[in-house]
Amino acid sequence: MTNPRVIESISEMQEISRFLKREGKKIAFVPTMGYLHQGHLSLVEGARQLGDVVVVSIFVNPTQFGPSEDFNRYPRDLEGDLKRLEPYRVEYVFYPSASEMYPEGYQTYVEVEELSKGLCGDFRPGHFRGVCTVVCKLFNIVQPDFAIFGEKDYQQLRVIERMSRDLNFPIQIIGMPTVREEDGLAMSSRNAYLSEGERKQALSLSQALFTCQELVRKGEKDSAVLKEKAQEIISQNPDARIEYIEVRDAYSLEPLEKIDRPAQMLLAVWVGNTRLIDNIRLNPDYQGG
Ligand code: PAJ
Repeated sequence: MTNPRVIESISEMQEISRFLKREGKKIAFVPTMGYLHQGHLSLVEGARQLGDVVVVSIFVNPTQFGPSEDFNRYPRDLEGDLKRLEPYRVEYVFYPSASEMYPEGYQTYVEVEELSKGLCGDFRPGHFRGVCTVVCKLFNIVQPDFAIFGEKDYQQLRVIERMSRDLNFPIQIIGMPTVREEDGLAMSSRNAYLSEGERKQALSLSQALFTCQELVRKGEKDSAVLKEKAQEIISQNPDARIEYIEVRDAYSLEPLEKIDRPAQMLLAVWVGNTRLIDNIRLNPDYQGG
């Protein structure tokens, strides 16, 4: 077990990365907003396999939160995060302040136009612009060979793949499966907001997704039928408010009426005052044709 070095300065992080690359080391990078759980740690484990050196960033990025969103109350716990990282022998934690990342006069943003529309993009205006901007900056600071993201934030993963390709980052973007609690709830830092009663109701998101996946396995091909089923399951809960339930092409994220290619069901649901997202591949065994 070793403690990572915590780097707060951009220029110091860049200098370290330049040095590592001169030494021929491959850098694997896991961007996070902290309050780490097993989902984040599975990405760190993936990074450990891929790189000689692992860098984790912890930065609650203000530009990806809307004015009425939870930036101020987003959970933060650097000491706990460093403890949780100990078993993974992470070499560096990049932990900049907001003013280090966005000094006075800052005015440059990155936008992925099409993939950022729809789904979360419709309900969180400017969110993916903020995500792309900070990830782009982090890529320039950390200069990784590999960057690892979770499928839990499915649209985010597709948006970042696109950005990285479009802007010619020499970085391999790796997506990793969603880690769930034993009962199926997708792990999320925001689960910390849920009361005991809400936690039970939150289970309906993954239950709806698993039920639909099973229906597809049994031959259902109609997206409308699947969406209706998911809606029925989730709306049984008094504190659940559905923002969207969608079936999309798993790569282009275009709406799908029939399950005739790799298809992803994605949903966003408010449980009380907490916004939760989850998604699943409806046809994991799809072979084409
Ligand atoms: P955050 O929500 O902290 O998530 C960091 C990474 O962990 C993301 O790639 C996310 O998809 C992944 N992750 C979260 N929950 C997961 C789970 N249950 N299973 C697997 N992976 C999971 O996503 C962000 O931060 C930010 O938008 C960021 C990319 C850091 C830019 O600010």
